[in-house]
Amino acid sequence: MVNYKDLGLVNTREMFKRAVAGGYAIPAFNFNTMEQMQAIVMAAVETKSPVIMQVSKGARNYANASILRYMAEGAVAYAKELGCEHPEIVLHLDHGDSFELCKDCIDMGFSSVMIDGSHLPYEENVALAKKVVDYAHQFDVTVEAELGVLAGVEDEVSAAESHYTKPEEVIDFSTRTGCDSLAISIGTSHGAHKFTPEQCTLVNGVLVPPPLAFDILHEIEKKLPGFPIVLHGSSSVPMDEVNTINKFGGHLEAAIGIPEEQLREASKSAVCKINIDSDSRLAMTAAIRKHFDEYPSHFDPRQYLKPARENMKKMYIHKIVEVLGSNDKL
Ligand code: G3H
Ligand code: 13P
Ligand code: ZN
Repeated sequence: MVNYKDLGLVNTREMFKRAVAGGYAIPAFNFNTMEQMQAIVMAAVETKSPVIMQVSKGARNYANASILRYMAEGAVAYAKELGCEHPEIVLHLDHGDSFELCKDCIDMGFSSVMIDGSHLPYEENVALAKKVVDYAHQFDVTVEAELGVLAGVEDEVSAAESHYTKPEEVIDFSTRTGCDSLAISIGTSHGAHKFTPEQCTLVNGVLVPPPLAFDILHEIEKKLPGFPIVLHGSSSVPMDEVNTINKFGGHLEAAIGIPEEQLREASKSAVCKINIDSDSRLAMTAAIRKHFDEYPSHFDPRQYLKPARENMKKMYIHKIVEVLGSNDKL
């Protein structure tokens, strides 16, 4: 059993309290590779931002659970080496789908876990979340639970349709489970294809998706004043990255994300954690495709992973400073 506090990590409790009061959101960036981890830490240090580094079940399968845990410990040391005396880094399990997976992560040094029972019948979601909370809180590990279903198909996270969170359920759910934060469904979804072109309106040649359900968010805020709310599926799918990918041999059709103004607006509310994964994938892929086109003779991974890392870092900094507002909050 390893406690996250011994690794220099922090849980989300104080971080979220400050974010809700301050009207900003903490970035939750997924990582699977060393370059993503480095880019996240460099961006957080340069902007003096707290940060959540999250690991999905798919990431654990890809990179190995122990390696990712040691990378997070390394991230704390790296942040200090870069000049940040007191980094605030959370190591979070993203979309935990069982008590056993959450327990395994808690036991190996995670400071926060998500138990995603959103696809289960309500009472089963409550029971599972409560079981995880009861275990996690013994070690001061914070727990995110989810009510409402996001659409989107990914390796380990899939649902054909979304179902918005029902505001009338949130008080009962948060009280009975004791969860520390609640992920809600208000129109975001996972992946790089969040909307079909038919769902969007063409404005000045740009496809603008329908707005998020801010009315539901505000109703939830009224029912749970000051309670930390989480938005998954919040990549914006920048058109310049999609265009670069397509220009250099890729084939991404109708990739559409959440407009950044809407995330900016959400960050000012009780939304205090915003999950971004696809934008990092796009930034990495765009830089690598461009590099291979410009330097067809290159085959040393450092030659193409360096610009990929730079591009991800630029994107992370942009999100922190221009969208979530978590800069200068350490
Ligand atoms: O919400 C899902 C994250 O983007 C993780 O995706 O399961 O493909 O690692 P993944
Ligand atoms: P995106 O696919 O929009 O980046 O969402 C990531 C996410 O919600 C991770 O849990
Ligand atoms: Zn998610």
